[in-house]
Amino acid sequence: MSFTRVCQSSEIPQGGMRRVMIEDRTPVTIYRVGDEFFATSDYCTHGIASLSEGELKGDIIECPFHGGAFNCRTGEPVEAPCVVPLTRYAVEARDGELFVGPLQYESAA
Ligand code: FES
Repeated sequence: MSFTRVCQSSEIPQGGMRRVMIEDRTPVTIYRVGDEFFATSDYCTHGIASLSEGELKGDIIECPFHGGAFNCRTGEPVEAPCVVPLTRYAVEARDGELFVGPLQYESAA
């Protein structure tokens, strides 16, 4: 997978996130923590909730369903009932634009 331009970095405020589609079919959530950007699969590994509809607190993304949570830097689950890590993607910021890809870790879900 090559890098895909997804949006301008200014479109995601600090402490914010945004759902984007890559390769026309894969939903990914981009998180902004300070001046760093991280990307994971948009779907929670516990169910099919969209994490972009959850709440980002620091680098912890809380799922909108069931109280589960993940670290958006690592994709690791930090709160039950989530136990399977999120798929992570590389994010690069170039000249004010954000690019996503390739896969860094694919969850077993
Ligand atoms: S769907 Fe995310 S915690 Fe259940």
